[in-house]
Amino acid sequence: MIDIEKNNRGNGIFITFEGIDGCGKTTQARYLSDYLRGKNIKFIMTREPGGTRVAEKIREILLNRDNIEITGRTELLLYLASRAQHTDEVIIPALKSGVWVISDRYSDSSVAYQGAGRGLGVESVRNMTLFATDGLEPDLTFFIDISPETAYLRMKKQGKVFDRLESETENFMNEVRKGYYWIIENCRNRFFRIDGEKSPEKVWKDIKSILIEKIPELK
Ligand code: TYD
Repeated sequence: MIDIEKNNRGNGIFITFEGIDGCGKTTQARYLSDYLRGKNIKFIMTREPGGTRVAEKIREILLNRDNIEITGRTELLLYLASRAQHTDEVIIPALKSGVWVISDRYSDSSVAYQGAGRGLGVESVRNMTLFATDGLEPDLTFFIDISPETAYLRMKKQGKVFDRLESETENFMNEVRKGYYWIIENCRNRFFRIDGEKSPEKVWKDIKSILIEKIPELK
């Protein structure tokens, strides 16, 4: 069960969605927002990189396909800068006023993509993310797990124009996935793997059952 007394930053609950590109987490975030609305819970929906005026500018630099010269360390620092601003300007104030925050990606993305995918080291990236967020971590994270092959086929079928990160190879996505598996081992209390190969409705059912188990007021 989530102990919101302990986290010392208001009584809003912080939930994040994670997974490789094309895993379907945005659809699940939408299911969750419909559900919370039905329960009259005050929440905001946000995303990373981005979520504030300045952070959206950093997002543009990060995802622009023309910026091929960005190195791994620069990439990490830009994601962290975007997150620091997002945390201070949006997430902490919301949680402090009792509003729940749902974010499409947060620190775990940096651990998986930059720590594992770019090979910067999962442990050191995790420590750096804690600096960027001033120690803030989500209360609950849903990791929608699918294979890079399924992800690629889904995005292609949707006719998606790939951004700089999405243009990475299957091998890169496999490494990112391994990064998420490292988090499963290291953050057992808040990080839950959901089988994303199922239909969106079934994935939502799995998410909902964990949600209800962890947050009794949702029952
Ligand atoms: P976005 O278009 O939001 O992708 P999606 O809708 O699939 O989540 O782009 C975010 C991209 O940035 C995505 O490829 C993952 C990557 N990313 C990182 O590499 N590190 C990070 O810390 C974050 C937040 C995102």
